[in-house]
Amino acid sequence: MSELPQSADLIVFGGTGDLSMRKLLPALYHCDRDGRLSPETRIIAMSRGGLDDADFRGKVDAQVRGAVPIDDLNVWERFLGRLHHVSVDIGGEDTAGWERLGAMLAGHEQRTRVFYLASPPMTFGPFCRQLERVGLVTPASRVVLEKPLGRDLASARRINDEVGAIFDERQIHRIDHYLGKETVQNLLVLRFANAFLEPIWNSLWIDHVQITASETVGTPGRRGYYDHAGALRDMVQNHLLQLLCLVAMEPPSRNDREAIRDEKVKVLQALRPIVGGEVDRFTVRGQYTVGESGGEQVPGYLDEPDGTAPTETSRRVETFAAIRAEVKNWRWAGVPFYLRTGKRMPHRYSEIVVQFKDVPHSIFPGSAPNRLVLRLQPSEGIQLHIMAKEPGAGEVALKPVPLSLSFAETFTTRVPEAYERLLMDVLTGNPTLFMRRDEVEAAWRWIDPILGEWEAHGTLPEPYPAGTSGPAGAHELLGRSGRTWHEEASE
Ligand code: BG6
Repeated sequence: MSELPQSADLIVFGGTGDLSMRKLLPALYHCDRDGRLSPETRIIAMSRGGLDDADFRGKVDAQVRGAVPIDDLNVWERFLGRLHHVSVDIGGEDTAGWERLGAMLAGHEQRTRVFYLASPPMTFGPFCRQLERVGLVTPASRVVLEKPLGRDLASARRINDEVGAIFDERQIHRIDHYLGKETVQNLLVLRFANAFLEPIWNSLWIDHVQITASETVGTPGRRGYYDHAGALRDMVQNHLLQLLCLVAMEPPSRNDREAIRDEKVKVLQALRPIVGGEVDRFTVRGQYTVGESGGEQVPGYLDEPDGTAPTETSRRVETFAAIRAEVKNWRWAGVPFYLRTGKRMPHRYSEIVVQFKDVPHSIFPGSAPNRLVLRLQPSEGIQLHIMAKEPGAGEVALKPVPLSLSFAETFTTRVPEAYERLLMDVLTGNPTLFMRRDEVEAAWRWIDPILGEWEAHGTLPEPYPAGTSGPAGAHELLGRSGRTWHEEASE
């Protein structure tokens, strides 16, 4: 039985926002329910909302309670009792909110203090400076930075410098919630706790890799954020590149935070830059238009209800991105890594597909190459597609069949949400699953020329109707070399 974490104060900036209500608070409730929060631990939401503790508890009761399993009302009440709210004039002249936070934290300097910045990246530096001004940054403090960290390499560096002027690198936790997903961690176990894969995990045996994060949701009410992010910054620069790193990295010498992060950085540094005219050949961007999703007609990106009219920036932003990447090293030379993500796609799923090469000489008609599929969501699991003989006399008929590991069927324990795992790692001081400064910057260094070219181009993203699997260009990206995306390939 692991020890209870020490008492902590978790201060969430943007504490009444979407991320907090949908992900952080439900995750913290689960931690509380499992007995992983010490009795004194407090959760303090900061926002400009003008709420007091009772208002905030009422809001959480109304919005979060229905989204989590409540088997004991006392536990829910105990959780609500941990919640506090401090109103702060974010970015304004009035500094009273910061002093109020100071008063709440006074006398608790020995506790682990976590400042969770679930706010836009340009607020990170100013918030850290305010925290320092009121004397709240203690040696036991940690700061969590939500992604995307900046808009490009220059802004990421500036933010890292600003935060780094106040917190040590070991106190800074740059979160990428994909790294907290069970299957992602399982990928490390699959690769490095089993001997059979390593000899074939290279360009001799692997034809290509596909990494897909497909969402059915659109962006209603999020245009303010999304217009300035787009799929490349929102999903590829962080989530998809992190998955690519875990697939492509060399075996680390230890299961230790620096060893693993060192190997990931090397992959990012080995990514072949996509520059100039190559951007057109190796990347695709799309934007959804009116279509059908979940049996209903849904608006296109530009017509999403948002309270504001779309602008020129809205017209240019991509809700879908696909890229053909390459890792230039001995293990991976010549193996394409196809990355793809989109909103308003036909299905919600995230997966990594490792497509092996075909047999060197086929003696049976109808053989197809082996494929390893790591499903991150929904229904986490691993499948190895192999060729088998269909039962029956006469001609040998082949059929690809999956050897399947379903986590839900194999393990009876609940699969925790990514944020539960990551929040506990912050509270217990384990940064392995967080991104180091050099990782984030290496990812931007690769993304920047693509963004630059897209912006310089003046062309609009390719339209695709909501509920379809992206623009035609995404299919051509693979089709040019005779490949297809996984869901289109015959099983
Ligand atoms: C977030 C993005 O980081 O990840 C969202 O900002 C996206 O746009 C979300 O919807 C997807 O997360 P998940 O865990 O549902 O795949």
